[in-house]
Order: sequence, then C-alpha cells, then structure tokens
Amino acid sequence: MEIDRRLFIASLGGAAAVAGMDHEARAEALEDYMSDQLEEALAPPADDEKPKFPTVAELEAQIGTRPFRRGAGGVFVAGRGNVKQLPPMPANATLLDYFKLRFTTVNHVLQSANRAMKTGMSEEIIFACLIHDVSQTLIKVDHGWFGAQMFEPYVSPKVTFAVRYHQALRFYPDPAHGYEYPDLYKRMFGVDYEPPVHIQAAYKYAKNHKWYLEPRMVTVNDLYAFDPNVKVTIEPFLDIVGRQFKQPKEGLGNDNSPVAHMWRAMALPDAPL
Ligand SMILES: [Fe+2]
Ligand SMILES: [Fe+2]
Repeated sequence: MEIDRRLFIASLGGAAAVAGMDHEARAEALEDYMSDQLEEALAPPADDEKPKFPTVAELEAQIGTRPFRRGAGGVFVAGRGNVKQLPPMPANATLLDYFKLRFTTVNHVLQSANRAMKTGMSEEIIFACLIHDVSQTLIKVDHGWFGAQMFEPYVSPKVTFAVRYHQALRFYPDPAHGYEYPDLYKRMFGVDYEPPVHIQAAYKYAKNHKWYLEPRMVTVNDLYAFDPNVKVTIEPFLDIVGRQFKQPKEGLGNDNSPVAHMWRAMALPDAPL
C-alpha cells in the first residue's frame, strides 16, 4: 500500500502534532491509518460510484454521429487523427511481417498468448491466443469467423476451432473454467445486450464439442490481456509459430489460397477498389 506522507501527517493534525508524539504513538497511528485506507479501498462502491454502462439503445443512438462504422477493421480507421502511410510489405510476406507491419491488435494478442504460456497451456492454445484477434485488423464484425477463415489453410483444425468459437463463448460465463463476463462487453455492447441467434447457436454447438476447452481457454486468457503496463514481444513465440503455422513460400497474399485476398486487403489497404 502506498502512503501519502502529507495526507497522513495532516490526518494527525500536522507536523507539530506529530513531533509531540512518542515513537509508539506514531507507529500506532500509522497502523490505524493504513487499516482505514485498506477498508476504504475494499469497501463496495456506493451506488453513485459504480461504473455506468450504456444500454443497447444508447449505443445505437451514437451510430449517426460517426463518419465510420464500428465494425471497420483497425487498419482502415485511425484511432486518433488521420490514418498513417504504411510501410510496404516485403515480397514473400510472412506471418511475422504482418505482426510487425500491419496487425493492429498486437499487444493484446501477445499478452493473451503470454498468459497461456505462463499457465502451462497447450501449444495449440498458446498459438490460438497469439492470433485470436488479429483479424480485427481487417474487420471487427464476426472477427472470430473471419479470423478462423483467414488462418484455416495454414493451421491445425483445433486452432481454427479455437479462433472461430472464442467469439461466441466470450458472451457466456464459465466460472468453473475461470471465465467471467467482462465489464468491457457491457461497455461495448450495452448492459442489456442479448447475443444474436447465430451466436447462441454457436455457443451451444461449441459447448457440447470435444474441443470446447480450446476456445474457452482463449476467452480465459483474453480477460487478462488488456494491461497497459505489460509489454510482451513476439520472440518467445517464434518456435511455436514455426511449428503451428504453415508459412506459404510465395508469401501471405501471393499464394493463391482461397483466403489470399484477405491478407492482400491488409497488405494494400489503400487500394481504392
Ligand atoms: Fe476476440
Ligand atoms: Fe481478445
């Protein structure tokens, strides 16, 4: 616990009052002060201090106030100000080139993969965490399905399954496996949000599937991957990328796979058509 010396001394009546106290009285006062602070920090928030989440209707009312739609991928919309000129992609672009030059959710996915690795999860789950949200560079709506499709030709079916169904599972708490519904979604989707029927159906399907824990673990690691004070690099994951991702030799976007255009759209997002 951090003690603000000035506040503490003021609470005792100022420096002169403290000077008149013996050693024991000071120690006792400090203990009382820390104990009060702890009680205050752990007390449940009063009603007017609780975070207020928007309703679905309030979020819908904001739609006409923006020049873009919320589902547009990160590479197409500036977070602040204007979009920037992007460095060109190398010929034979690899997954790592996309991590370094294009993906817009890098810190978040690295943090989630880092947690998966630290908690001893399987290599497929670690890799699924590493790529679970990178499709949001291209498009945010249905990012689990877009992400699974983008990666399907290059990864194992289990990884594809984990990426696809994490999108549905994140709306459904599973405390037994360590997943609580996050406040972030109350803020993003509205406090009274009901997932659409395709998400409800996907949840039911995934929940009864033998690979349920793959996407579930992606959602568990997701929860702990928004820490502004943690910086994770890609280096610890390079061996896993090498084993889990079949890099096409022509480069992502040039390999004529059924999803090459999705990678090209991120490589060349300024093409007018
Ligand atoms: Fe996600
Ligand atoms: Fe995520």
